Amino acid sequence: MTRRVLLAKPRGYCAGVDRAVQTVELALERYGAPIYVRKQIVHNVHVVKTLEERGAIFVDETEEVPEGAIVVFSAHGVAPVVHDEAAGLSLRTIDATCPLVTKVHKEARRFASDDYDILLIGHEGHEEVIGTSGEAPEHVQLVDGPDDVARITVRDPEKVVWLSQTTLSVDETTATVEALRARFPKLIDPPSDDICYATQNRQVAVKEIAARSELVIVVGSQNSSNSKRLVEVAKDHGADASYLVDYADQIDPAWLEGVTTVGVTSGASVPEELVDGVLQHLAAHGFDTVEEVESVRERMVFALPHELRRDLRSA
Ligand code: F3S
Repeated sequence: MTRRVLLAKPRGYCAGVDRAVQTVELALERYGAPIYVRKQIVHNVHVVKTLEERGAIFVDETEEVPEGAIVVFSAHGVAPVVHDEAAGLSLRTIDATCPLVTKVHKEARRFASDDYDILLIGHEGHEEVIGTSGEAPEHVQLVDGPDDVARITVRDPEKVVWLSQTTLSVDETTATVEALRARFPKLIDPPSDDICYATQNRQVAVKEIAARSELVIVVGSQNSSNSKRLVEVAKDHGADASYLVDYADQIDPAWLEGVTTVGVTSGASVPEELVDGVLQHLAAHGFDTVEEVESVRERMVFALPHELRRDLRSA
């Protein structure tokens, strides 16, 4: 029996994650440890552990950071109130919010200032959603999937817009928007797509391998929205089974029984070394042919946060 791996491309780090991780690494080099980071810089266990070993201290709340220290805000973005808290503690802040999340924040501010009701499609409790809602708490309501639409009430059905979390599944968002539009026919679309290019591209790529694989292994952490979506998309597009693993040793040998083709991909917050670990593990189980299936070419790069660039220049 020939056993093979179909490896999705693009996979792994997006431009926003790459920038956020580099920000903490360069801040450690430039200012020295400790560097405080509010929330997980990106939603990946391995990345957080590696940065901790180098001197980053992860905290949940701004008030845990000692007065005057340097704090990095994570890629998922923060509400304005968090900037105020940091100023109150005289913290030096470096904002690693992904520019594509910042774009959604700006849209929320703009529609709120025009007094729209903003229906934010996203997952309750997700940091990005908390940050975006915080831009205009009195105007934003969360819509957590199509089943959540029935409970929504708005002040004026003529003035309603939807925005979304950047890392959702395109298909799920479409279903929610359709349900919203059925209730509010005058619903306005965002000026441009909120689902980011990296989320979309990784979903397109996983669909392609899922159609040709019995099993799809997604490398990513449980708290990573975009990684969890990849599992769902794989199951919906042809894979008999799909699982999320942080590390190769979480692969249950039973998953591989009777399987000839395994698809492999990784979420936008996952370093390539973890995918390499999975490929080595699979090779040891007879899956030693790897075919990379490229569906979209990615070239996106984001500049580092300006406050860090300035200090690196003056170093
Ligand atoms: Fe940004 Fe999309 Fe990555 S919003 S952090 S480019 S997954």
